[in-house]
Formats: sequence, structure tokens, C-alpha cells
Amino acid sequence: MQRAKVGVLISGRGSNMAALLYAAKAESCPYEIVLVAANDPDAPGLALAAAEGIATFGQSHKGLKRAEFDRIIDAQLRAAGADYVALAGYMRLLSPEFVGAWENRMLNIHPSLLPKYKGLDTHQRAIDAGDSHAGCSVHIVTAELDDGPVLGQTPVAILPGDTADTLAARILIAEHQLYSRTLADFVTRERQPDWLLNKVREIALAMPQAEETLSHGMPCFGVAKGKKFGWFTRDHHGDGIIALLVKTSAPDEQATLIEADPARYYRPAYFGNDWVGIRLDLGDTDWDHIAIRLRASWRQIAPKKLLGLMDIAEEF
Ligand code: GAR
Repeated sequence: MQRAKVGVLISGRGSNMAALLYAAKAESCPYEIVLVAANDPDAPGLALAAAEGIATFGQSHKGLKRAEFDRIIDAQLRAAGADYVALAGYMRLLSPEFVGAWENRMLNIHPSLLPKYKGLDTHQRAIDAGDSHAGCSVHIVTAELDDGPVLGQTPVAILPGDTADTLAARILIAEHQLYSRTLADFVTRERQPDWLLNKVREIALAMPQAEETLSHGMPCFGVAKGKKFGWFTRDHHGDGIIALLVKTSAPDEQATLIEADPARYYRPAYFGNDWVGIRLDLGDTDWDHIAIRLRASWRQIAPKKLLGLMDIAEEF
């Protein structure tokens, strides 16, 4: 199994980073930590990560513009080969450029049951409000602070006599468990057949007069009452593969693609030479490329009168 590469950003203690790091020691963990970076070279978490053999980077943000500092961090993450970013007590607002560059690839942990208590002082605010439970949330990072789709939450009971510190200490235990579990689910969701089918479906059904049917047990996409331009195959005849089959648009294209990238492209059994299989289960699918392939395939089978419609759609 190819592990997803995760860069972790911290500002201090780094106990959540440590929880992610130790969870990644399990052989079955679907991610690995490739870099721990901090906006403070003395952040204690950096020393711990280094002692565990993880690459680290620490630089103070002082004197640098926000976007300028974020560009430095971004370059470090990319040089380390990170596919995902996990914010773990990273107490810096991020520039829109940085957030945009890691869209749907960056998670954060926050010590409250979001959408309650964004920002700071979350534990005291939950106590003062008389809440029965506080807790923690892991969410996808978007431009708004502590916003973005929540992926997982753990409620933690508030005990009589709890102070912000006693409550924070208990929530931290929950954080350490929630974060690695949620990150593991997140990095593997793009390999789940249902997620992949939905993604293909979204692209295919946006084509003029496209419809989905089931044929030979496989979801397939065609022009209404016409021919098919895409098949979604999942463990067909027990081959263990999740792939999209599309029509090629030039003679010999099947052979050329297979030769260029034999791990990804293959000749689908029973489909002949003018179809090609593209594996979707390798963990690095380029969805813009899949969209191009599906559109080209649709063009192969669409009646002439519909081709004009596609030309108009593609202009937008
Ligand atoms: C954690 O409680 C985390 O949820 C919080 O900072 C702490 C960092 O501890 N994050 C935020 O408040 C972000 N808005 P750690 O450095 O030991 O992981």
C-alpha cells in the first residue's frame, strides 16, 4: 500500500503531531509524516519529531508578510513531497493563497464542537455557557477561521468543578485519538469505490444527454437511448481493480497509452482495441485528465447534432 504523505504544521508543544506520528508507526496506517514544520524554531514539538527521525523545519514568521511566510512553508511541504497538510496547534492565520493551494488537502483540529466556539479560549467559553459537553473537531481548512466541513467530532463531558485547564487536558486525550483516525479515513476516502464512482458520475452526467445505467453489473454512462462512453468497473471477474473504461479517440491509442504508463492503463477484456481501462485506485488520479478522457469518449459516440452542444458547453 502506498502511504499518503502528510506534512504537519505546529506552533508549540506538538502533542497532536506526536499522536499522528505514533499512530503512523502502525503498519496498517495509510499515511506517513514526511515533515513537521513550525513558525517557531524553538517549538518543543520540532525536537520530538527530529528525535523520531522525521524531517523538520522551523523558522520564525516575524518580520515577514503572511503570504511571504506561507510561501516558505509551502515550498518546504512540496520539497518533502507532502500530499496533505495537517494543522496541529498551528496558531497562525493562513493566507488565502496557501489555503487555495491546499484546498481539500488540509485538515485542522480545533478544541470545540464546531460550529461552537471558533477561535481562542474555547474551553472557558464552553464552561461559562453551562454546556454539558465540550469536545473537539477535525475539519477541512477553508478560508474562514475554524470553518470548513467537519469530518469528525468527539464530545467530552464537562465535569462539576472543571476549570479550563482540567477540561483542556481531557479534551486533548480525545483530540489525540480523533485526529489520527479522521486523517486516516480522509486520505483513504479517495480510494473507496463509492467515492470514485461518485466522482466519475459527477463528470459523466454533466455531459449533454448523458444517463447512467447498469450493464453486466457495471455502472455505465451513455447518451440517452444511445451508445455508452464510459464504464465503471470494480473488481470485475475478481480482478481487484477499480477503473474507468473509455473509448479511445485514435487508432493505436490504446497501445500507446499502455506503453507510456502500464501501471495505469490496460486493455479491458471483451472491449476490443478502441477502449482503454484507466485505473482509479492508484491514489494519484488526475481528475482533470479523467474529465478530458470522458469528454473525448463521449465525442466518439455522440450523435452529430449533440456535438455542437458540447462545443458550446466547453466554451464555458
Ligand atoms: C490543541 O488543543 C489544538 O486543538 C489547539 O491547540 C492545541 C495544540 O496542542 N488548536 C487550536 O486551538 C486551533 N484553533 P498541541 O500542540 O499539543 O497539539
